[in-house]
Amino acid sequence: MNSRRVGSGARATARAHANIALAKYWGKADVERNLPAVPSVSVTLDALATVTELHFDETLQADALLLDGIEVQGRGLQRVVRLLDEVRAIARLNCFARVTSRNTFPTGSGLASSASGFAALAMASMAAAGVALDRDVASDLARRASASAARSIFGGFARLDAGAPGQSSLPARPIAPQDHWDIRIVVAVTSRGPKRVGSTEGMRHTAATSPYYDRWIEMSQAVAERVQTAILSRDLVALGEAAEHSALSMHACAMAAQPPLLYLEPATLACVEAVRVLRERGVHAWVTIDAGPHVKVITSRDDASRVAGHLAAVPGVLQAIESRVGPEASVEVTEA
Ligand code: DP6
Repeated sequence: MNSRRVGSGARATARAHANIALAKYWGKADVERNLPAVPSVSVTLDALATVTELHFDETLQADALLLDGIEVQGRGLQRVVRLLDEVRAIARLNCFARVTSRNTFPTGSGLASSASGFAALAMASMAAAGVALDRDVASDLARRASASAARSIFGGFARLDAGAPGQSSLPARPIAPQDHWDIRIVVAVTSRGPKRVGSTEGMRHTAATSPYYDRWIEMSQAVAERVQTAILSRDLVALGEAAEHSALSMHACAMAAQPPLLYLEPATLACVEAVRVLRERGVHAWVTIDAGPHVKVITSRDDASRVAGHLAAVPGVLQAIESRVGPEASVEVTEA
């Protein structure tokens, strides 16, 4: 291979924000290529971000990753190396990278996000390797590492379509910018520590054993259209109802797997109930839940602090984080 080396000078720092799917991705059309079986639509979150500093260094014997001050090894490091290998192939580069990554939200809150992490890694490694910033390329790279990360390359509201088996490239795309609509997301943190079953394994198990999986795939296209239309027309009631339907249908499908895949905990259900009560009192608030026990509440600017206060008082809730809609991922080369 015609390869080149960069000295230890090329250093890039990227910042990418977490995103929450309003229409959920759950299931793969192609496991090897990590292509989703369903379309997903997300909102990028201002309050939760990953900052990643990276440089390629000729003196390193292997890639090294420091995450929130802790040296990562094993599977976590392997996923990072795989993405770096793809960037090295694009840039025809043959040296290893030192990656230092930190989350702007509390370490160990259980919110550690592969979405913001891989989006920041894609942007930082491309920039440090001297690859021109093309968001489609960055999003496609991030998607292969973790599909939800494809959406974190973009700010505001983004969509990742379903893929077809064997498809070579599938980036997410923006559907509305950050300033399109000032909604708020309140994240109720209900536990510390990692999730019991990761998304990749959870999806594999659901697809293999849930009798509702085919129905979930069938319904997902229409739910994604409902969510997208609600975003474009700034209709919060329509968005909230569609997002809740997507999340709870995903969990119903996972729960019907054998053995069951149950991400909901008592505090999760207490939050769902608290939000329902708030809605009865005229508050605009709807829940969404990912592959863990935390609850994310979609609400309006006017109702956000009331929702956050109410959730913080729910037994089992450790913290309620209020977020605005976030910006696109960014990167700067700090040393050339
Ligand atoms: C429930 O993107 O973490 O958060 O592609 O296997 O890494 P992999 O999965 P991941 O799955 C996210 C699942 C979800 C819904 C969503 O974000 O769309």
